[in-house]
Amino acid sequence: MVDIGKGAGDKGTSDNPPLVVLENVNKHFGELHVLKDINLTIDQGEVVVIIGPSGGGKSTLCRSINRLEPIDGGSIMIDGKKLPEEGRELARLRADVGMVFQSFNLFAHKTILENVTLGPMKVRKVGKAEAEKHAMELLERVGIGSQAGKYPAQLSGGQQQRAAIARALAMKPKVMLFDEPTSALDPEMVKEVLDVMTDLAEEGMTMIVVTHEMGFARRAARKVVFMADGQIVEESTPDEFFTNARTDRAKDFLSKILTH
Ligand SMILES: Nc1ncnc2c1ncn2[C@@H]1O[C@H](COP(=O)(O)OP(=O)(O)OP(=O)(O)O)[C@@H](O)[C@H]1O
Ligand SMILES: [Mg+2]
Repeated sequence: MVDIGKGAGDKGTSDNPPLVVLENVNKHFGELHVLKDINLTIDQGEVVVIIGPSGGGKSTLCRSINRLEPIDGGSIMIDGKKLPEEGRELARLRADVGMVFQSFNLFAHKTILENVTLGPMKVRKVGKAEAEKHAMELLERVGIGSQAGKYPAQLSGGQQQRAAIARALAMKPKVMLFDEPTSALDPEMVKEVLDVMTDLAEEGMTMIVVTHEMGFARRAARKVVFMADGQIVEESTPDEFFTNARTDRAKDFLSKILTH
């Protein structure tokens, strides 16, 4: 495997232990072995893009890092702590992991501002005034400050997805997971969401991003993980992966998305 740990990024990692460590993670859905001995280490400030064919286990991997799915073997550590099975400690650790899905999952009957302040007030016990101040800063940062008083249905898809990103950031997560955040968007809205994500990456946020947006992968990712049939098949730099994939499985996948 190519050494991509050194010199590839500008955020020195030697002083910091890895933020996310998956060791021999296994997961079944009944007979189906969906995650097969997954080993993955993500440093503080690192951006990892996960790419691969449908059904390969990408979403399941994201969901297990957030404990939305229990795993049946191996371990997942976030910032040096093993994810607990359940309870209050789990809620606290889960709040360290922000998640943005393909469908925006905003609460329809709450305003954008309320969507963003809800988590901090309920889970982090932040006061209303402070939560609103922080929420407005985040909404400005993702470019939708003027939409704060509206309801999700009054926003475009791209605006809703940026609200979902602000909502996740409001919890001050240590790592952000994005599962195909732009695949439900009209093409003209994809860029505004990717721009927000690129800014986040440049600010040093640790990110795990499932996406087939290769422009984003090349621009923002330090590492590309190619996943198929529940396994990590290749792990390399974006440049290496897109110009010189090593396995036939990855070459075949790339030829399909490139000619698509
Ligand atoms: N809740 C579930 N119960 C049973 N099987 C599931 C469940 N969720 C996912 N699977 C199966 O697990 C496998 C991996 O699914 P997953 O959604 O992780 O793939 P993916 O790589 O995200 O695919 P896509 O690119 O289509 O989003 C698939 O075969 C899927 O049918
Ligand atoms: Mg998926």
